[in-house]
Amino acid sequence: MKFFVDSADIDAIAELNDLGMVDGVTTNPSLILKSGRDILEVTKEICELVSGPVSAEVVALDADAMIAEGRKLAEIAENIAVKLPLTWDGLKACKVLSGEGKMVNVTLCFSANQALLAAKAGATFISPFIGRLDDINIDGIDLIEDIRTIYDNYGFETNILAASIRTVAHVQDCARIGADVMTAPPEVIKKLASHPLTNAGLDQFMKDWAKTGQKIL
Ligand code: G3P
Repeated sequence: MKFFVDSADIDAIAELNDLGMVDGVTTNPSLILKSGRDILEVTKEICELVSGPVSAEVVALDADAMIAEGRKLAEIAENIAVKLPLTWDGLKACKVLSGEGKMVNVTLCFSANQALLAAKAGATFISPFIGRLDDINIDGIDLIEDIRTIYDNYGFETNILAASIRTVAHVQDCARIGADVMTAPPEVIKKLASHPLTNAGLDQFMKDWAKTGQKIL
């Protein structure tokens, strides 16, 4: 499973990228707001740092304007994936932009039928939002499982990009089901390394080592 970082924070992305943990980046208007940066400038910097796909989201609501914004975003760098909302206009824009050879990430997906439409419109990525479904007592992981089954039934090549990942359990479930990609905030990716037994074991080793009185260096 590929790891994308769901952030427009260049320092946080760089830290994970140095460890080889970053296969791509996803941004959205809320993350651009959080970064306090200009969308074109910060997206360009991210694209220079990371070689994998970098999703940049349009903000227009009608297809023609989405297409125009998508083309402008795609000019930033070769690794831009134009992010479009899963609306009828978004699907129209997806068809046109994917037909031009641009990577397209269709976002705000909350049902398997929506994912089916995105695949038929030529999306490179479909972004089902797990956490936001969990927020309303619908199991987001079930959605990933349904999309995996449907895409495999028909050989759709659209990549399942599990989004709105909030917990380390989400990451593990997505990997078990076979999501192609998961995108998570940097904090969640860093938490994957944590285990209380690792901490307890290390603590014991440090205590015992101190008692030996030895040094390695
Ligand atoms: O990739 C989409 C993601 O940013 C949404 O996450 O936590 O705002 O639902 P969240």
